[in-house]
Amino acid sequence: MQAKLQELQAGALAATAKIDNIKSLEDLRLKYLGKKGELTAILNGLGALSKEERPLIGKLSNEVKAAITAALDQRLTALENQEIQQKLASETIDITLPGRRIPAGRPHILTTTRAEIVEIFSELGYTVADGPELEDDFHNFEALNMPKDHPARDMHDTFYIDDGRVLRTHTSPVQIRLMEKGILPLKAIMPGRVYRCDADVTHSPVFHQVEGLVVGENITFGDLKGTLELFLKRMFGAQRKVRFRNSFFPFTEPSAEVDVECFVCGGKGCALCKNTGWIEILGSGSVDPNVFRAVNIDPEKYTGFAFGLGIERIAMLKYGIKDIRLFYASDLRFLKQF
Ligand code: PHE
Repeated sequence: MQAKLQELQAGALAATAKIDNIKSLEDLRLKYLGKKGELTAILNGLGALSKEERPLIGKLSNEVKAAITAALDQRLTALENQEIQQKLASETIDITLPGRRIPAGRPHILTTTRAEIVEIFSELGYTVADGPELEDDFHNFEALNMPKDHPARDMHDTFYIDDGRVLRTHTSPVQIRLMEKGILPLKAIMPGRVYRCDADVTHSPVFHQVEGLVVGENITFGDLKGTLELFLKRMFGAQRKVRFRNSFFPFTEPSAEVDVECFVCGGKGCALCKNTGWIEILGSGSVDPNVFRAVNIDPEKYTGFAFGLGIERIAMLKYGIKDIRLFYASDLRFLKQF
């Protein structure tokens, strides 16, 4: 019996030393010390031994149990430590590495350009107003002196929605909404999105305009010219040539379009300016008396002027952008330049 116990201990210690993972170690513990383990069986059989043998074997059994338990525990501690070391080695973070850079965002060039326009007019005392992009026929056309079969409606390439509503083709309907409020005198700009069914290098189906409207007593065409000249000098620099060219809009009389010297050819004529040397950037004029009548303002007492300019066109001129589609393509190589 004594030899058997010693053999069992030697076997258990040798096996323990070879174990390389915690799961196998627990299996080994059960093999010797579990309820049905080999040593447990011997301890359970002590009662069958003779009175002389029992204390001796009993003592030895307990020593063997203590030795095996100690060996198992020691191995467990070693394996646990090994596991922690492995984890530490594989999950090491090099805190001396530089951090990942989060690229800084910036306002879109159209946002910046609009802000610049708003800033200049704010300094001149203009307030800022806006209106709906889905408009009714009255505000987009009728009240602007474009009755139903007016040929000028054809110039607008309108997106028609339903029951006479349209995506506004210009910001001029906001003029009507402002004047309907009946608070005079007024001096406001109205930036916003407008829609036309048209697309090429200088036309986009969605683009941006800033409308301007001044209504009061004794407002003249001279005020319009002075205001726009001042604005354009601030926007493009005093050296940039601009010209007023007579034109027609149903809602202004007289009307003028303002052109700026082509930024690509400097006035010589090229594809962008269609060989004219000039790029049109805004429409303007004195408010037509019919428009005042549509909103119940007395044209005998009040006069005014209005203008509408394209934000894309202004940005294209200012920064030498040749294709309007670049504004909407979300190409960071383009956007980051500004
Ligand atoms: N609404 C005109 C357009 O979109 C511009 C304009 C506005 C002209 C105000 C005159 C006065 O072309």
